[in-house]
Amino acid sequence: MRIKPSRNLLLGLCFVLALVFLYYWSWRIISRDWGHKPLYDKQGFRLKLDDVSLPLELMYKYGNLSDGACKPGFAAAKMAAIYPAFTKPAPMFLDPSYKRFAKIVDHSPPFGVKYQENTIDSLLSATKNFGLGKELDRLSCKTCIIIGNGGILTNKSLGKKIDEFDVVVRLNGAPLKGYEKDVGSKTTIRITYPEGAFQKMDYYESQSLFVLSAFKSLDLKWMRYMISNQKLRNTEGFWKSVAKRVPREASDMRILNPYFIQEASFKLIGLPYNNGQMGRGNVPTLGSVAITMALHNCDEVAVAGFGYNLSTPHAPLHYYEKILMSAIKESWTHNIPKERAFLVKLVKAGVIQDLSNGICGAGCS
Ligand SMILES: *[C@@H]1O[C@H](CO)[C@@H](O)[C@H](O)[C@H]1NC(C)=O
Ligand SMILES: *[C@@H]1O[C@H](CO)[C@@H](O)[C@H](O)[C@H]1NC(C)=O
Ligand SMILES: *[C@@H]1O[C@H](CO)[C@@H](O)[C@H](O)[C@H]1NC(C)=O
Repeated sequence: MRIKPSRNLLLGLCFVLALVFLYYWSWRIISRDWGHKPLYDKQGFRLKLDDVSLPLELMYKYGNLSDGACKPGFAAAKMAAIYPAFTKPAPMFLDPSYKRFAKIVDHSPPFGVKYQENTIDSLLSATKNFGLGKELDRLSCKTCIIIGNGGILTNKSLGKKIDEFDVVVRLNGAPLKGYEKDVGSKTTIRITYPEGAFQKMDYYESQSLFVLSAFKSLDLKWMRYMISNQKLRNTEGFWKSVAKRVPREASDMRILNPYFIQEASFKLIGLPYNNGQMGRGNVPTLGSVAITMALHNCDEVAVAGFGYNLSTPHAPLHYYEKILMSAIKESWTHNIPKERAFLVKLVKAGVIQDLSNGICGAGCS
């Protein structure tokens, strides 16, 4: 009679303990799931970009460098920290081993080289050069800057700063003459497609690599004329008039690795795959393509002249012509808001540095 209540008490206690235990574990499991789910966005970028830390050994290495010295591997390390799928190897330009690069052989232009092998082989056998040039290829640490063509460069006097980079990348027909104070006077490579190339011969720099970014198979055929210095007669199939001659030696011409167009579009920006074919809104702008190239091939990456200052709709769209920003039209091929979201991630996390502050404006920090 005396034992019974204490046995009940013991059973009760066991029951309460079991409940507490269950409650505790289910809480642990739920909170773990909550903690995990929202770490990355749809493209695979970390959602939290303001506390990106690098591996300890890199921090040590960089801590020892003098102020302003080039940090080896910095851009790729930062990129991998916010986007774990990032893998570095992808050469800037096509070289004779390009068919081994699986990601481009099963896509046609602009995302790959499928069915273009004969044209590409003949181009490569004419250029015979596939790098940036002896001096730059030897550098153990390279700083690169991509110059966008935005009117935001006007009156910022960034020219001197821009010229200090090891590699200055310019896009399409953005001239230097008369704008040196704002955009600099050095050009290491100029990336263009036929419709974007200078048509006036005296706009070409006396020294720079002429790099084709092929968006359609016709662009590679056009390059064959330019490389052999033949005058192009038939310009059917281009969406605008094109340069009929390019005053460059074959050895100063390159073909941009189309992998950067593919990666920028489908992976980094998240444009529609469309069975791997060019289609509505899945072609990245040349600026985003060039930045993607730099992330794979430069140790530090900066940009200038990207983005627009939305508080000044009557400012010029480009630094070199009078078209106003308010003239920006809906684009069939590009998706400007999605590209901007991608660039904002890079600037926010410190993967790239934006000298003219056009990508974030006031909205990044
Ligand atoms: C950094 O400098 C310290 C002291 O000068 C040196 O002991 C250390 O080995 C250096 N570390 C690297 C990674 O160079
Ligand atoms: C740039 O500066 C010049 C000379 O001061 C001025 O005339 C021009 O309006 C400025 N342009 C812009 C876009 O601010
Ligand atoms: C954008 O324009 C406003 C108004 O002219 C100016 O105050 C601001 O500094 C500009 N921002 C950038 C990043 O140029």
